Amino acid sequence: MNRRGFLRSAAIAAGALIFGRTQSAIAASPKKIVKASKFPVGSNQKFVAANGSPAFLFRTKSGVFAYSAICTHQGCTVDYFKAGKKLVCPCHGASFDPFNAGKVVSGEANFPLAKINVAIKSGWVVQS
Ligand code: FES
Repeated sequence: MNRRGFLRSAAIAAGALIFGRTQSAIAASPKKIVKASKFPVGSNQKFVAANGSPAFLFRTKSGVFAYSAICTHQGCTVDYFKAGKKLVCPCHGASFDPFNAGKVVSGEANFPLAKINVAIKSGWVVQS
């Protein structure tokens, strides 16, 4: 191999090494949502999921859980109504129970809200 070929191979190898590290660092880094100390049992909040879509996070005695805020009927954004403890869609009125796997309670939707995997790690609620 001549000098030019050697330099080209070395550059490709270095790029693959750097790119590989970057990709595994991204894949291994969970998205931080909120500090666990700022999100006590009984809390809920909106957040932006890793895919950029709106979502809701909840914390109960049993842990943290989250759902996409995209209605499974036609894609409007649901909102949480604390009094009824339901996620309700403003478009056609579907409601979902966040404390029962996001199941449909009433309305036009046929499927539960999509679950988002979250956990508490190193003092943060993260999307895993
Ligand atoms: S889009 Fe939510 S009920 Fe129709």
